[in-house]
Amino acid sequence: MEGKAHGAHVLALPYPTQGHINPMLQFSKRLASKGVKATLATTVFIYNSMQPPSSESVQFDTISDGHDEGGFAQAESIPSYLARMEAIGSKTLADIIIKNKDTAHPVDCIIYDPFLPWALEVAKKFGLVGAAFFTQTCAVNLIYYYVHHGLLKLPISSTPISIPGLPPLELQDMPSFVSVSGSYPAYFEMVLNQFSNTDKADWVLVNTFYKLEVEVVDSMSKVCPLLTIGPTIPSIYLDNRVENDNDYGLNLFTIDDLSVCTDWLNTKPAGSVVYVSFGSLAHLSNKQMEELAFGLKGSNFYFLWVVKASEGEKLPENFVEEMGHKGLVVKWSPQVEVLSSKGVGCFFTHGGWNSTLEALCLGVPMVVMPQWTDQPTNAKFVEDVWKVGVRVEVDENGVVGREEIESCIRKVMEGERGKEMKENAKKWSNLAIEAVSEDGTSDKNIEEFVSKLIKASP
Ligand code: UDX
Repeated sequence: MEGKAHGAHVLALPYPTQGHINPMLQFSKRLASKGVKATLATTVFIYNSMQPPSSESVQFDTISDGHDEGGFAQAESIPSYLARMEAIGSKTLADIIIKNKDTAHPVDCIIYDPFLPWALEVAKKFGLVGAAFFTQTCAVNLIYYYVHHGLLKLPISSTPISIPGLPPLELQDMPSFVSVSGSYPAYFEMVLNQFSNTDKADWVLVNTFYKLEVEVVDSMSKVCPLLTIGPTIPSIYLDNRVENDNDYGLNLFTIDDLSVCTDWLNTKPAGSVVYVSFGSLAHLSNKQMEELAFGLKGSNFYFLWVVKASEGEKLPENFVEEMGHKGLVVKWSPQVEVLSSKGVGCFFTHGGWNSTLEALCLGVPMVVMPQWTDQPTNAKFVEDVWKVGVRVEVDENGVVGREEIESCIRKVMEGERGKEMKENAKKWSNLAIEAVSEDGTSDKNIEEFVSKLIKASP
């Protein structure tokens, strides 16, 4: 159902990776469905890499990160990429605002990824309102907030770590930038700097839903007032109130043939397939790929495994041929569609927030093998708070062995505990749908955001 047009225009600026673009685009679509004009700005390089976006309700525009030809891969280092993006991105973001100034729909609000806090300064320079849009969980952001404000001192000297609203956390449950000191100093600074100017933002929006993180949301709201607006997954899988919203509509990777995965899944019995994917950024070691391959083989379940083009050579020789009808290996999948297939019984995931949220919304239990950033914390919640999966154990060489992989898959796919996890996943799925349906917590928050936006727009 299209909302009534009222002239407000939001300019959404995601951090330029798949895992940040998807939720921001999805949120933009939802705003468009409520009558707001929405433009999503991404970098020239990302724009040129996109498979043609299928969203009719959201317009696209570009800023420059100073690497129009090669994007991040062209940069000398992470700090130099981020600095150049700030310098050139600020100017080119301002150009979009100026370009729209004398049109019927001047920009009223910038919704920005707080990985790019300078976008709020651009908004304020032009007298616009600004909304920080956190793409990760409240739990992870509360941890970063505590570190940023010196409320949690690093390096962590004793565990369990106690932060109001969070369960007791061990070191291995913390985001990697916090637990592995010095691992990615520029990213560490970036995640803490998300809070450098949130007090000046007109809204803080978080891609989660209230019942999923009740205590955390309540605790964080005391120090940083926020609105939960998630889950941002295509509405056909939720309340289906946004027309033609069947997928995210923007892939940076090519899906060879859309129906390959679903056709294959449709030939498999309900709940019989393990879907394996590690998102858009993670790279596994050769050894880890080998252990995973043999773990899947040993489990003897069907599997659908996304092995990105850059990872293909790490597969054991002849593995795909040997597996025959037991396994399908693809370079990129229509993931939400895959997870909604009856054939899928378990998601073997890195625990990226979008993947985790998609599994929760679609009622799929998980085995989580976190790699870095927010994933260890997501894994902790999946296993111990939401009780919808298990987390793998890493051996003394930093690898997850084939027996462990096989055993974790069995725990989720079989037995009483597996059944409980499936039931819990179904419960979260219902609560996710409730949150975005009319009068649900997230829906009300989005309505509140839109009505204030309309008041703020001249
Ligand atoms: C990154 C971080 O790693 C993640 O932890 C953070 O929360 C967001 O940014 P990424 O690693 O790519 O993202 O993982 P994830 O958050 O799960 O996002 C991946 C997205 O790509 C999901 O929306 C997923 O549906 C999509 N995807 C993934 C596909 O459409 N097809 C695939 O084959 C794999």
